[in-house]
Amino acid sequence: MFKDSVVVVTGGAQGIGKGIVLAYARQGANVVIADINKGLGEQLERELLEQGFSVIFVHTDVAKEQDIVSLMKQAVEQYGSIHILINNAGKLQHTSPYDITLEAWNDLLQTNLTSAFFCAREAAKVMRHNVKGGSIVSLASTRAEMSEPFTEAYAATKGGIVALTHALARSFGPDQITVNCISPGWIETGNYEELRPIDHAQHLSGRVGVPEDIAQACLYLTNPLNDFVTGINLTVDGGMTKKMMYED
Ligand SMILES: NC(=O)c1ccc[n+]([C@@H]2O[C@H](COP(=O)([O-])OP(=O)(O)OC[C@H]3O[C@@H](n4cnc5c(N)ncnc54)[C@H](O)[C@@H]3O)[C@@H](O)[C@H]2O)c1
Repeated sequence: MFKDSVVVVTGGAQGIGKGIVLAYARQGANVVIADINKGLGEQLERELLEQGFSVIFVHTDVAKEQDIVSLMKQAVEQYGSIHILINNAGKLQHTSPYDITLEAWNDLLQTNLTSAFFCAREAAKVMRHNVKGGSIVSLASTRAEMSEPFTEAYAATKGGIVALTHALARSFGPDQITVNCISPGWIETGNYEELRPIDHAQHLSGRVGVPEDIAQACLYLTNPLNDFVTGINLTVDGGMTKKMMYED
Protein backbone atom coordinates (compact mmCIF):
# COMPACT_ATOMS: atom_id res chain seq x y z
CA MET A 1 0.00 0.00 0.00
CA PHE A 2 2.86 2.41 0.78
CA LYS A 3 5.33 1.22 -1.84
CA ASP A 4 7.06 4.24 -3.42
CA SER A 5 5.13 6.67 -1.19
CA VAL A 6 7.24 9.51 0.18
CA VAL A 7 6.97 9.82 3.95
CA VAL A 8 8.51 12.60 6.07
CA VAL A 9 8.92 11.74 9.76
CA THR A 10 10.05 14.53 12.10
CA GLY A 11 11.95 13.45 15.20
CA GLY A 12 12.58 10.18 13.40
CA ALA A 13 16.05 9.42 14.75
CA GLN A 14 14.95 7.64 17.93
CA GLY A 15 12.02 6.61 20.10
CA ILE A 16 8.54 6.54 18.61
CA GLY A 17 9.73 8.35 15.48
CA LYS A 18 12.29 5.64 14.77
CA GLY A 19 9.56 2.99 15.10
CA ILE A 20 7.47 4.92 12.57
CA VAL A 21 10.41 5.27 10.18
CA LEU A 22 11.04 1.50 10.33
CA ALA A 23 7.37 0.67 9.74
CA TYR A 24 7.12 2.74 6.56
CA ALA A 25 10.55 1.62 5.32
CA ARG A 26 9.46 -2.04 5.68
CA GLN A 27 6.34 -1.19 3.63
CA GLY A 28 8.58 -0.09 0.74
CA ALA A 29 8.13 3.65 1.23
CA ASN A 30 10.81 6.29 0.68
CA VAL A 31 11.35 7.74 4.14
CA VAL A 32 12.78 11.14 5.00
CA ILE A 33 14.11 11.17 8.56
CA ALA A 34 14.15 14.73 9.94
CA ASP A 35 15.78 15.27 13.31
CA ILE A 36 17.79 17.80 15.27
CA ASN A 37 20.09 14.98 16.48
CA LYS A 38 22.60 14.71 13.63
CA GLY A 39 24.59 11.80 15.06
CA LEU A 40 21.62 9.52 15.66
CA GLY A 41 19.93 10.55 12.41
CA GLU A 42 22.99 9.81 10.28
CA GLN A 43 23.53 6.51 12.09
CA LEU A 44 19.95 5.39 11.44
CA GLU A 45 20.20 6.46 7.80
CA ARG A 46 23.41 4.39 7.42
CA GLU A 47 21.90 1.31 9.08
CA LEU A 48 18.73 1.39 6.99
CA LEU A 49 20.57 1.99 3.71
CA GLU A 50 22.77 -1.03 4.51
CA GLN A 51 19.60 -3.09 4.94
CA GLY A 52 18.42 -2.00 1.49
CA PHE A 53 15.73 0.48 2.57
CA SER A 54 15.10 3.79 0.82
CA VAL A 55 15.78 6.58 3.34
CA ILE A 56 17.54 9.92 3.68
CA PHE A 57 18.35 11.89 6.79
CA VAL A 58 17.84 15.64 6.73
CA HIS A 59 19.27 17.53 9.69
CA THR A 60 16.35 19.69 10.83
CA ASP A 61 15.35 21.85 13.76
CA VAL A 62 11.56 21.93 13.44
CA ALA A 63 11.48 25.03 15.64
CA LYS A 64 12.99 26.94 12.68
CA GLU A 65 10.72 27.83 9.77
CA GLN A 66 13.65 27.94 7.35
CA ASP A 67 14.69 24.40 8.30
CA ILE A 68 11.15 23.19 7.61
CA VAL A 69 11.05 24.83 4.17
CA SER A 70 14.43 23.31 3.39
CA LEU A 71 13.33 19.86 4.67
CA MET A 72 10.32 19.66 2.35
CA LYS A 73 12.40 20.98 -0.56
CA GLN A 74 15.02 18.26 -0.04
CA ALA A 75 12.30 15.59 0.22
CA VAL A 76 10.89 16.65 -3.15
CA GLU A 77 14.34 16.95 -4.75
CA GLN A 78 15.22 13.42 -3.60
CA TYR A 79 11.95 11.56 -4.18
CA GLY A 80 9.76 13.79 -6.39
CA SER A 81 6.83 14.48 -4.01
CA ILE A 82 5.53 14.11 -0.45
CA HIS A 83 2.52 11.87 0.32
CA ILE A 84 2.66 11.48 4.09
CA LEU A 85 3.87 13.74 6.91
CA ILE A 86 4.23 12.48 10.47
CA ASN A 87 4.67 15.39 12.91
CA ASN A 88 6.38 13.43 15.68
CA ALA A 89 9.19 15.69 16.95
CA GLY A 90 8.55 16.94 20.44
CA LYS A 91 9.93 17.24 23.92
CA LEU A 92 8.58 17.08 27.46
CA GLN A 93 9.35 19.73 30.04
CA HIS A 94 8.71 19.69 33.79
CA THR A 95 8.81 23.20 35.28
CA SER A 96 6.71 24.72 38.02
CA PRO A 97 4.16 27.20 36.64
CA TYR A 98 5.55 29.64 39.22
CA ASP A 99 9.01 29.45 37.67
CA ILE A 100 8.67 28.92 33.94
CA THR A 101 10.14 31.74 31.86
CA LEU A 102 8.56 33.19 28.73
CA GLU A 103 11.59 31.95 26.81
CA ALA A 104 11.13 28.34 27.99
CA TRP A 105 7.39 28.49 27.36
CA ASN A 106 7.88 29.82 23.82
CA ASP A 107 10.61 27.29 23.10
CA LEU A 108 8.29 24.39 23.91
CA LEU A 109 5.40 25.83 21.92
CA GLN A 110 7.70 26.39 18.97
CA THR A 111 9.10 22.84 19.09
CA ASN A 112 5.90 20.90 19.78
CA LEU A 113 3.08 22.93 18.24
CA THR A 114 4.15 25.74 15.91
CA SER A 115 6.43 23.26 14.13
CA ALA A 116 3.49 20.95 13.41
CA PHE A 117 1.59 23.76 11.72
CA PHE A 118 4.47 24.92 9.54
CA CYS A 119 5.47 21.35 8.61
CA ALA A 120 1.84 20.66 7.66
CA ARG A 121 1.63 23.86 5.62
CA GLU A 122 4.84 23.26 3.69
CA ALA A 123 4.05 19.56 3.08
CA ALA A 124 0.48 20.35 1.99
CA LYS A 125 1.77 22.79 -0.62
CA VAL A 126 3.35 19.73 -2.26
CA MET A 127 0.61 17.17 -1.47
CA ARG A 128 -2.15 19.26 -3.07
CA HIS A 129 -0.55 18.63 -6.48
CA ASN A 130 -0.57 14.83 -6.04
CA VAL A 131 -3.25 12.88 -7.91
CA LYS A 132 -4.51 11.50 -4.58
CA GLY A 133 -3.56 14.30 -2.19
CA GLY A 134 -1.87 13.15 0.99
CA SER A 135 -2.10 12.49 4.67
CA ILE A 136 -0.83 14.25 7.79
CA VAL A 137 -0.60 12.74 11.28
CA SER A 138 0.62 14.63 14.35
CA LEU A 139 1.59 13.22 17.72
CA ALA A 140 -0.60 14.66 20.47
CA SER A 141 -0.77 12.91 23.87
CA THR A 142 -3.21 11.69 26.48
CA ARG A 143 -1.72 14.66 28.37
CA ALA A 144 -4.01 16.82 26.21
CA GLU A 145 -6.74 15.51 28.53
CA MET A 146 -5.00 14.73 31.85
CA SER A 147 -1.95 15.97 33.74
CA GLU A 148 0.73 15.48 36.34
CA PRO A 149 2.15 18.58 38.05
CA PHE A 150 4.43 21.07 36.29
CA THR A 151 3.59 20.14 32.70
CA GLU A 152 1.50 23.19 31.69
CA ALA A 153 3.45 24.06 28.56
CA TYR A 154 3.57 20.46 27.32
CA ALA A 155 -0.15 19.88 27.97
CA ALA A 156 -0.95 23.15 26.17
CA THR A 157 1.03 22.08 23.10
CA LYS A 158 -0.70 18.71 22.96
CA GLY A 159 -4.16 20.22 23.40
CA GLY A 160 -3.13 22.61 20.63
CA ILE A 161 -2.26 19.69 18.35
CA VAL A 162 -5.77 18.25 18.78
CA ALA A 163 -7.38 21.59 17.84
CA LEU A 164 -4.94 22.23 15.01
CA THR A 165 -5.80 18.80 13.61
CA HIS A 166 -9.50 19.42 13.03
CA ALA A 167 -8.85 22.94 11.78
CA LEU A 168 -6.35 21.71 9.18
CA ALA A 169 -8.57 18.77 8.26
CA ARG A 170 -11.27 21.30 7.40
CA SER A 171 -8.97 23.58 5.36
CA PHE A 172 -7.05 20.84 3.53
CA GLY A 173 -10.07 18.58 2.91
CA PRO A 174 -10.79 20.04 -0.55
CA ASP A 175 -7.21 19.20 -1.54
CA GLN A 176 -7.78 15.51 -0.62
CA ILE A 177 -5.44 15.77 2.35
CA THR A 178 -6.51 13.98 5.53
CA VAL A 179 -5.28 15.37 8.85
CA ASN A 180 -5.44 13.34 12.06
CA CYS A 181 -3.59 13.08 15.34
CA ILE A 182 -2.68 10.25 17.70
CA SER A 183 -2.68 10.52 21.47
CA PRO A 184 -0.24 7.95 22.79
CA GLY A 185 -0.37 6.95 26.43
CA TRP A 186 2.70 5.41 28.01
CA ILE A 187 5.00 4.33 25.19
CA GLU A 188 8.28 2.99 26.52
CA THR A 189 11.24 4.10 24.39
CA GLY A 190 13.92 3.11 26.91
CA ASN A 191 14.61 -0.26 28.53
CA TYR A 192 11.33 -2.20 28.44
CA GLU A 193 12.79 -4.91 30.69
CA GLU A 194 13.09 -2.44 33.55
CA LEU A 195 9.33 -1.85 33.72
CA ARG A 196 7.58 -3.24 36.82
CA PRO A 197 4.53 -5.54 36.83
CA ILE A 198 2.52 -2.65 38.31
CA ASP A 199 3.39 -0.51 35.27
CA HIS A 200 1.91 -3.08 32.91
CA ALA A 201 -1.06 -3.82 35.19
CA GLN A 202 -2.42 -0.27 35.01
CA HIS A 203 -3.28 -0.85 31.35
CA LEU A 204 -6.42 -2.66 30.15
CA SER A 205 -4.13 -4.27 27.58
CA GLY A 206 -1.95 -5.63 30.39
CA ARG A 207 1.19 -4.04 29.03
CA VAL A 208 2.98 -0.72 28.52
CA GLY A 209 3.10 0.44 24.90
CA VAL A 210 5.98 0.27 22.43
CA PRO A 211 6.80 2.50 19.43
CA GLU A 212 5.36 -0.12 17.04
CA ASP A 213 1.91 0.46 18.59
CA ILE A 214 2.02 4.06 17.39
CA ALA A 215 3.53 3.09 14.03
CA GLN A 216 0.55 0.76 13.42
CA ALA A 217 -1.84 3.64 14.10
CA CYS A 218 0.09 5.82 11.62
CA LEU A 219 -0.19 3.12 8.95
CA TYR A 220 -3.95 2.96 9.53
CA LEU A 221 -4.51 6.73 9.43
CA THR A 222 -2.37 7.29 6.33
CA ASN A 223 -3.67 4.34 4.30
CA PRO A 224 -5.49 5.87 1.29
CA LEU A 225 -8.23 3.23 1.80
CA ASN A 226 -9.03 4.98 5.10
CA ASP A 227 -9.47 8.46 3.66
CA PHE A 228 -12.95 8.68 5.24
CA VAL A 229 -11.13 9.14 8.55
CA THR A 230 -10.06 12.76 9.00
CA GLY A 231 -9.97 15.35 11.77
CA ILE A 232 -9.79 12.77 14.56
CA ASN A 233 -7.67 12.25 17.65
CA LEU A 234 -6.97 8.51 17.95
CA THR A 235 -6.06 7.50 21.50
CA VAL A 236 -3.56 4.64 21.61
CA ASP A 237 -2.91 4.02 25.29
CA GLY A 238 -3.69 0.38 26.05
CA GLY A 239 -6.87 1.63 27.70
CA MET A 240 -4.95 3.36 30.49
CA THR A 241 -7.19 6.43 30.47
CA LYS A 242 -10.29 4.24 30.66
CA LYS A 243 -9.31 2.43 33.85
CA MET A 244 -10.95 3.54 37.10
CA MET A 245 -8.27 4.56 39.59
CA TYR A 246 -10.07 3.06 42.60
CA GLU A 247 -10.54 -0.29 40.86
CA ASP A 248 -7.40 -1.86 42.38
N1 LIG B 1 6.81 8.23 24.74
C1 LIG B 1 5.60 8.50 25.18
O1 LIG B 1 5.12 7.86 26.14
C2 LIG B 1 4.76 9.57 24.54
C3 LIG B 1 3.44 9.73 25.00
C4 LIG B 1 2.63 10.70 24.42
C5 LIG B 1 3.12 11.48 23.38
N2 LIG B 1 4.42 11.32 22.96
C6 LIG B 1 4.87 12.17 21.84
O2 LIG B 1 5.44 11.37 20.83
C7 LIG B 1 6.50 12.07 20.18
C8 LIG B 1 7.78 11.24 20.26
O3 LIG B 1 8.09 11.00 21.61
P1 LIG B 1 9.29 10.06 22.08
O4 LIG B 1 8.92 9.52 23.40
O5 LIG B 1 9.67 9.13 20.99
O6 LIG B 1 10.44 11.15 22.30
P2 LIG B 1 12.02 11.01 22.14
O7 LIG B 1 12.60 12.10 22.98
O8 LIG B 1 12.47 9.61 22.35
O9 LIG B 1 12.26 11.37 20.61
C9 LIG B 1 11.95 12.64 20.12
C10 LIG B 1 12.76 12.91 18.87
O10 LIG B 1 12.47 14.26 18.45
C11 LIG B 1 13.69 14.91 18.16
N3 LIG B 1 13.53 16.36 18.33
C12 LIG B 1 13.36 17.05 19.49
N4 LIG B 1 13.33 18.37 19.23
C13 LIG B 1 13.47 18.51 17.88
C14 LIG B 1 13.53 19.62 17.02
N5 LIG B 1 13.44 20.89 17.48
N6 LIG B 1 13.67 19.41 15.71
C15 LIG B 1 13.77 18.14 15.20
N7 LIG B 1 13.75 17.05 15.98
C16 LIG B 1 13.60 17.23 17.30
C17 LIG B 1 14.69 14.31 19.14
O11 LIG B 1 16.04 14.51 18.72
C18 LIG B 1 14.27 12.84 19.13
O12 LIG B 1 14.92 12.12 18.12
C19 LIG B 1 6.60 13.42 20.88
O13 LIG B 1 5.85 14.38 20.18
C20 LIG B 1 5.97 13.14 22.24
O14 LIG B 1 5.45 14.32 22.83
C21 LIG B 1 5.23 10.38 23.53
